[in-house]
Amino acid sequence: MRNLDEICAVVTGGASGLGLATATAIVEAGGKVALLDINQSQGKESERVLGSSALFIQTDVSNESSVDSAIEKAVNEFGSINLAVNCAGIAPSARVLGRDRLMSTEDFAKVTTINLNGCFSVARAAANVMQNNEVDADQQRGVIINTASIAAFDGVIGQAAYSASKAGIVGMTLPLAREFARIGVRVMTIAPGLFRTPLFDTLPPNAVEVLEASTPFPSRLGDPEEYAAMVCHIFQNTMLNGETIRLDGALRMS
Ligand SMILES: NC(=O)c1ccc[n+]([C@@H]2O[C@H](COP(=O)([O-])OP(=O)(O)OC[C@H]3O[C@@H](n4cnc5c(N)ncnc54)[C@H](O)[C@@H]3O)[C@@H](O)[C@H]2O)c1
Repeated sequence: MRNLDEICAVVTGGASGLGLATATAIVEAGGKVALLDINQSQGKESERVLGSSALFIQTDVSNESSVDSAIEKAVNEFGSINLAVNCAGIAPSARVLGRDRLMSTEDFAKVTTINLNGCFSVARAAANVMQNNEVDADQQRGVIINTASIAAFDGVIGQAAYSASKAGIVGMTLPLAREFARIGVRVMTIAPGLFRTPLFDTLPPNAVEVLEASTPFPSRLGDPEEYAAMVCHIFQNTMLNGETIRLDGALRMS
């Protein structure tokens, strides 16, 4: 088991929501974190708030060279990285047979390119760096943690693209874990239910109440700190590998 203050992480989507909560937990535990996010103003502000253990690197996860260069910058800054957390994502909702238009495959691909290809892009670049790390007492060189969604399993109308992108993340978790076992890198995925992030700021209060009531227990939105606590636990528990963990208060969307 590794201590949290040994973490040198890259966190995509680290400027906001679940990614920012994760970056905050890492810094509070004494680790270092690079925030890889497309949002320059929010990224800079989060870097300022987190202090000298955080570094913002503007990154578009859907662009492979942007990802490769960001990982290289993080490695130059920290010496290496031993944790990569994929939180960057978009969650548009649209019917395929919309009232005004038919969803195009281009619309569909935009979601999968950011959510799924972006996650893969970071995983491959991170594993490539991690394979050169010294092993810890458990013969481990690094951990990759992805963020899917319960929509990977029970997506609702409007989530065809989003659910497909998240199911793809769930699907690649085991083959990546099997492949990276040889280099001592674990791969895990968290599938959150409903978490209170800026994603929900745009919803009217009564819509949030309905969503909260649909979660069996606890009947509330998850706190991003609860997601961050799961990331920290996965980092420390070497037996967790190749699996997707639902973090959802028993919510099953109907
Ligand atoms: N909040 C929830 O209830 C919930 C539930 C299930 C899954 N998730 C997943 O968790 C992840 C984080 O969501 P959140 O709620 O924190 O949302 P958020 O909108 O607060 O954060 C997402 C971050 O990703 C960044 N981003 C978007 N496109 C990017 C790109 N191309 N390159 C780099 N960064 C990019 C955004 O700038 C933003 O900072 C997402 O993948 C989302 O699908 C969230």
